[in-house]
Amino acid sequence: MKLTPERMVSARERFNRAARCQPVDRPPIWLMRQAGRALPEYRKLKETHTFVQLVQNPELAAEVTLQPVRRFGFDAAILFSDILVIPEAMGQTYSFKETGGVIMDFAVNSRADIEKLSTGRVVEKLAYVDRALRILRQELGGQTALLGFAGSPWTLATFMMEGASVPKYSRALQLFRTDPSTYQALAEKLTVAITAYLKMQIAAGIDALQIFDSHGGHLNPTEFQAASGQWMAEIIRQLGGNASPGSAENGGRRNPVPVIVFSLGTHGNWPDLIASGADVLGVDWQSSLAEVRQVVPAPIALQGNLAPALLAEADPATVAAETRKVLAAMQGRPGHIFNLGHGLTPNAKLENIAALVETVKTHQ
Ligand code: CP3
Repeated sequence: MKLTPERMVSARERFNRAARCQPVDRPPIWLMRQAGRALPEYRKLKETHTFVQLVQNPELAAEVTLQPVRRFGFDAAILFSDILVIPEAMGQTYSFKETGGVIMDFAVNSRADIEKLSTGRVVEKLAYVDRALRILRQELGGQTALLGFAGSPWTLATFMMEGASVPKYSRALQLFRTDPSTYQALAEKLTVAITAYLKMQIAAGIDALQIFDSHGGHLNPTEFQAASGQWMAEIIRQLGGNASPGSAENGGRRNPVPVIVFSLGTHGNWPDLIASGADVLGVDWQSSLAEVRQVVPAPIALQGNLAPALLAEADPATVAAETRKVLAAMQGRPGHIFNLGHGLTPNAKLENIAALVETVKTHQ
């Protein structure tokens, strides 16, 4: 399954091939939340700019996106932005508290609040993302893959209904359980906004996109499909794909760019995730890749899944050893994108990130 050593591929090509389960010399690597707080060069910029200023300034957002790629040589760059730009573009402004966590200018409480949210100008309001992606495509050229992203409707709804990051996201759950038609109105609106936003990102030149369903695991497995899974599937369908890459009815049609679905804590829902139409499924750090590869059909690639806590707590030798275990769990199965099993934490040690990248890059 390997390419011959003399056939040198660019990081971009390596990523794109792995995302489509084609043979590669070694798995490509990028890390969720690679752009940001773990890096001194990001913290330096934060001395003079707020997070939202960095996100909304295309040149600076592009710069922060490139910082981890320059430092570690990742195969893919993920746009520096946030999932909360969608609620903001729909009329619900957010900011970050000094003490950590997000705060929004109001909480979505009722059908009247949902009706106030507007999907009409999302693409126009997020023109700064379009600009940042175009700068990045130019800068990265054919060398490094460029990833776009959005939050899932469910995950965004959990934030929007609390109006802040909170220890327990119970309000969206309660709405979904007690007033499903109002929840559906919110999820439908978010689906429209997210689809338009992702189409804009595809037009700007991204190689692949990831849907973050970070709060999917707050649902029980019997609720997941109705509250989250079906809306992600609908977004993917509207992007142009129409069935899961592995299924016969797909008729050879593909999504316009590979779609990665990362749904945290929902691995009781593999059938729903497989049916979502994603080309790549993220595997969280609590799951065993060796088991997941038995469950997920071969035309779907897998992404993951080193435990992020290791990078803060362990030493480089331990990180290298654990990285080799993740690589071994996917040995012989085409379609592995190396990543963490959730986002990089601010206290990750730089020498551990370097050991991780080096181990993947020298993997035979
Ligand atoms: O992956 C990347 O490096 C790209 C940038 C990125 C950020 N947020 C930057 C960020 C991405 C892909 C996200 C996604 C995101 N945002 C998610 C899904 C991923 C996940 O970790 O599950 C979620 C749930 C959010 C919402 C969010 N953003 C919260 C709740 C907070 C505050 C708490 C926190 O983690 O700091 C953020 C802030 C945020 N987003 C920071 C960064 C670099 C920290 C801002 C700072 O302090 O400088």
